[in-house]
Amino acid sequence: MSDAPVTEKKKVIFSAIQPSGTITLGNYLGALRNWVSLQDDYHCLYAVADLHAITVRQDPKVFRQNILEAYALLLACGIDPEKSPFFIQSHVHTHAELAWILNCYTQFGELSRMTQFKDKSQKHSDNVNAGLFTYPSLMAADILLYQADMVPVGIDQKQHLELTRNIAERFNGIYGKTFTLPEPYISTTGAKIMSLQDPTKKMSKSDENVNAWVAVLDKPDTIMKKFKRAVTDSEAVVKVGEGKDGINNLIGIMSTVTGKSADAIAAEFEGKGYGDFKTAVGEAVIETLRPIQERFNNYINNKDYLIELYRKGAEFALRLSQRTLDKVMKKVGYLPR
Ligand code: TYM
Repeated sequence: MSDAPVTEKKKVIFSAIQPSGTITLGNYLGALRNWVSLQDDYHCLYAVADLHAITVRQDPKVFRQNILEAYALLLACGIDPEKSPFFIQSHVHTHAELAWILNCYTQFGELSRMTQFKDKSQKHSDNVNAGLFTYPSLMAADILLYQADMVPVGIDQKQHLELTRNIAERFNGIYGKTFTLPEPYISTTGAKIMSLQDPTKKMSKSDENVNAWVAVLDKPDTIMKKFKRAVTDSEAVVKVGEGKDGINNLIGIMSTVTGKSADAIAAEFEGKGYGDFKTAVGEAVIETLRPIQERFNNYINNKDYLIELYRKGAEFALRLSQRTLDKVMKKVGYLPR
């Protein structure tokens, strides 16, 4: 793991993922894939956002395992700890501390407008807790602590990024330049993978219908079954088009995993039925995930290595983030320790 300080030359990238059980094909294609490809050209830092995850109830034993699995999966996806320190959010106390401060610079009205809050509070109407509401301030703290220039995310996180910029601008406006204003990095393909059962909704691990999502760790025959059951339309033409959400989504997935354009895919499957196309998408996804699954199985059985790595990651992240937190606390008027 590089101990070199973050320099002016390379831009800084930060992103995080929640360890809420299943990590989906949507997470991989919308975010993780980009995290991997950005590591050569930027200073990247990544985190498993376990503080965010308790905004919904977690079973402690399962949660502990999910955090470790999410960490191992990042490694398996190709995050290289030598290039991109990655850590577990709750191990770096500066996140919760800055989040509190930023809460005091975030307006009730702003948080009320967050569509993810509206969706999640509907879904978990028995537990609309304050953490769910202030979740975006913690996300802002994650990003601003590292002075990130860019944040690779799927489209669903764009609104949170905009709020992060607003909070940063507000703080900078009061106290002078303190935070870098981060930009979202959203790739042209894979930024919004839709549910396989209702392609007007995003693919989400919280969907109760297991056929709606593909998990990165699903077995090949499960993946194939899910693609074969994917909802399409009655036109039987493999081509991007209006009212063809299911096929558009499958073409999007195919294009993201193979690098082929939507037109090339349409030409390849001209005259062929949806059955053939779904099988081909299933196969392409299985082959994309196969090496990740193999690496995951190695890493998850090497707990000592994972512990060593996440400790180093947390030490690095703490050193870096403490500088920002110290600066913020001084500006706000806290006494030095
Ligand atoms: P999370 O854990 O829900 O998702 C992780 C990443 O996956 C992307 N994603 C998708 N992309 C395309 N299609 C989909 N169907 C799909 N579903 C999810 C998300 O956009 C995200 O990039 N709040 C964040 C975690 C977080 C974070 C941060 C992100 C905490 N702190 C700081 C960036 C920076 C979340 O819940 O993502």
